[in-house]
Amino acid sequence: MTLVKMKEILTHAKANGYGVGAFSVANLEMIMGAVRAAEELRSPLILQIAEVRLKHSPLSIIGPAMVAAATNASVPVAVHFDHGLTEEKIREALEIGFSSIMYDGSHHPLEKNITETKKMAAIAREYGATVEAEIGQVGGSEDGSVDLEMLITSTEQAVQFAADTEIDALAIAIGNAHGVYKGEPQLRFDRLQEINSEIEIPLVLHGGSGISETNFRQCISLGIRKINVATATFNNVVNMVNTEAPFKDYFSYHESVIAAAAENVKRHMEMFQSVGRVKEETLNV
Ligand code: 13P
Repeated sequence: MTLVKMKEILTHAKANGYGVGAFSVANLEMIMGAVRAAEELRSPLILQIAEVRLKHSPLSIIGPAMVAAATNASVPVAVHFDHGLTEEKIREALEIGFSSIMYDGSHHPLEKNITETKKMAAIAREYGATVEAEIGQVGGSEDGSVDLEMLITSTEQAVQFAADTEIDALAIAIGNAHGVYKGEPQLRFDRLQEINSEIEIPLVLHGGSGISETNFRQCISLGIRKINVATATFNNVVNMVNTEAPFKDYFSYHESVIAAAAENVKRHMEMFQSVGRVKEETLNV
């Protein structure tokens, strides 16, 4: 029984100076691949799905599968509702047993973002769940449907936001973007360092696909503890399935999807230095 709260995972990562991948999943095979990777590498794991993806993978179906996979895993797994936009879906995820939620009010002006985040955080607290929220605006959008302008997080606003909302983890915008980067991402390490020196809670980097190992390591050394990865897993699955086609039967295809998801998750876990952090079923002290 290793469904854990995200806060537990991030606290351990902060104390030991490493990052934890939050991997987006869209079906049973990706869930199985991510858990397989975490178990093989003895790494903590955050399994997540964003609200905009529910049109493909209904929460009432994929949510219980994610919670069951976490519960049966031999490593600590948090199940996270990514980019929550509506109270209805946030509540549904919490009812299903998600152990953390992100409320994304980054498109609102600061005051409204604070008010809405506090409201959603209060709901999550009823369930004992961990809360993540965002200030500034990560470029692109989670499902690529809109090309949001990138708004670098202001240190002053981040400090106010963290203090007023009392959330557990803060997603910031430092030049990161969802989807495929158009060129080499130009991350604002100066801003990250400044925010990290002013804020105690773990920081979150969205848009992990396409960032280099060197940049990941730099981010981790400057306080990033949770790193979201979606596109890289989806693309790895498509590429591997295309390479291995034609399949003789459905079940070799099924196994290929699991293997492709696991391969990408493992590659990122190595870069985030979360490998070997789990002893028996608990985090190494
Ligand atoms: P990528 O798709 O760029 O990896 O971003 C994932 C993400 O940040 C999900 O919230």
